[in-house]
Amino acid sequence: MKNRELDAAWTYHNTTKHSYQSIRAGGHYLDWENQPIPFKIYSGLEAIPLSQKLSPSGVPALQAISAAAARPGKQVAPTSQILGEILFLSAGITRRKSYPGGEVLFRAAACTGALYHIDLYLICGDLPDLPAGVYHFGPQDFALRRLRQGDYRPVLARAAGAEPSIANAPCVIVCASTYWRNAWKYQARAYRHCYWDNGTILANLLAAAAARNLPANVVVGFVDATVNQLLSLDSKREAPLTMIALGNDAPPDIKLTPSVEPLTFDTAPLSKREIEYPVMSAMHEASSLESDEEVAAWRREAQRDARRNRIEDAKEARLFPLRSLDDSEIPKDTIEEVILRRGSTREFSHESITFAQLSTMLDRATRGIPADFLYQAEPSLNDLYLIVHAVEDLPSGAYYFRREDRALELLKEGDFRREAGDLGLGQEIPADCSVDVFFLTDLNRALERFGNRGYRAAQLDAAIMGGKLYLAAYAQGLGASGLTFFDDDVTEFFSPHAAGKSVMFLIALGKSVKRRRGLKVL
Ligand SMILES: Cc1cc2nc3c(=O)[nH]c(=O)nc-3n(C[C@H](O)[C@H](O)[C@H](O)COP(=O)(O)O)c2cc1C
Repeated sequence: MKNRELDAAWTYHNTTKHSYQSIRAGGHYLDWENQPIPFKIYSGLEAIPLSQKLSPSGVPALQAISAAAARPGKQVAPTSQILGEILFLSAGITRRKSYPGGEVLFRAAACTGALYHIDLYLICGDLPDLPAGVYHFGPQDFALRRLRQGDYRPVLARAAGAEPSIANAPCVIVCASTYWRNAWKYQARAYRHCYWDNGTILANLLAAAAARNLPANVVVGFVDATVNQLLSLDSKREAPLTMIALGNDAPPDIKLTPSVEPLTFDTAPLSKREIEYPVMSAMHEASSLESDEEVAAWRREAQRDARRNRIEDAKEARLFPLRSLDDSEIPKDTIEEVILRRGSTREFSHESITFAQLSTMLDRATRGIPADFLYQAEPSLNDLYLIVHAVEDLPSGAYYFRREDRALELLKEGDFRREAGDLGLGQEIPADCSVDVFFLTDLNRALERFGNRGYRAAQLDAAIMGGKLYLAAYAQGLGASGLTFFDDDVTEFFSPHAAGKSVMFLIALGKSVKRRRGLKVL
């Protein structure tokens, strides 16, 4: 089993680390003439338009993002109206901006480089107003295109090792990356971005589904080749990343799993030529699961090995228990309003946020994710480390978030704006914001439990929480931006506490300069 040859994940991770040396020696430049288009465009398939109407759910964003788990037991199937809303709120075009060189169509969720390399596919049985089939979602014209007709859910259920949420789902969304659309800029590091950019989409998707009372469950354990074949992906250039079970119903009454005939579709060329990054394909291969038996065993073993983090010794520590707003105090802006106004903050002011605002963001983003790799006994694969620059009633310094205790532990006090800027690739954003939140994983442990697939799960776990932080910030009128980082320097900065851990994700939170100026004008 390739998934158990753990050197592969370490090799990928180590060779795609950023360091001062790697950046200086890189020599990579952006070939604008060869920039890929940010859409997968099927030339020969008829568009099935989705309804453009977005019904407000009335559910406050902060409530929607903190809904922890799907509710099995309740029978519920989405309509195409609801599916359209969920697709729009996860991956739809929400803003357009013109530049001298063209126009950028920004999407609902943040994405590295605004390159939008992740496509969403829909696999459903007969829904009230959508016939059973396999569909591709095209944000460019907000339409579905049917790749296959008929009920293929049993294929997915089997590929997912009989995962109950998939087996009982009236509809499954599969997220898949076309590497080149991101690798054009980020080269081999784009494999990390697959999970980062999928995570922000899923934070939105889970919140949009929760606001519509639709159970949702994220699944990372499946036979990759089967899903590839079902979606007719080009396995050299594209990869299925996650499945999301939507809704809950009796499993389809189909005796035989339908056979999946090979199909090919014409799609518009992405750019003049494409460059392959073998390190990335090697990582994907090495973390692929090869049979439904392997998937079922993979999930069983990971669950058996789940355990609570050790309860930390509080004797010496300076602890700051979170003081979050409760449901009656939270801003009531709906999840739709918040997703529509979300963007990445381009310039932060040095102003303070309140401890209640920070507490609310941390609390709401870490209440759990419904996913096949997370269990009550081990609800996350990542630890949160913070650099606090400007939070009222909280000394500036480096912190560790004690998830179990819902408290921040001060690791070292001081003004670390300069250091934070350095850790975030020398950018201004991490130095100017109020707080930087780093997600670090014990990669050895994740790989022991899940094999190389643990690398995918750890990246995704961090990115979903990062996506939730984005929404929790905007829900409170604050700003946020995802960031990249110098891997080993971050670990060193938080050591000895973080020694041996690997950085998965970074997000800056605070007040945006634009917003402050806007208020001044008023
Ligand atoms: C994981 C992640 C990392 C990012 N890294 C950076 C970064 O290092 N520097 C930066 O200026 N923006 C960064 N961004 C912000 C993206 O550039 C931004 O999401 C994209 O341009 C789309 O714009 P929007 O978020 O305003 O919709 C990052 C975003 C994500 C999700």
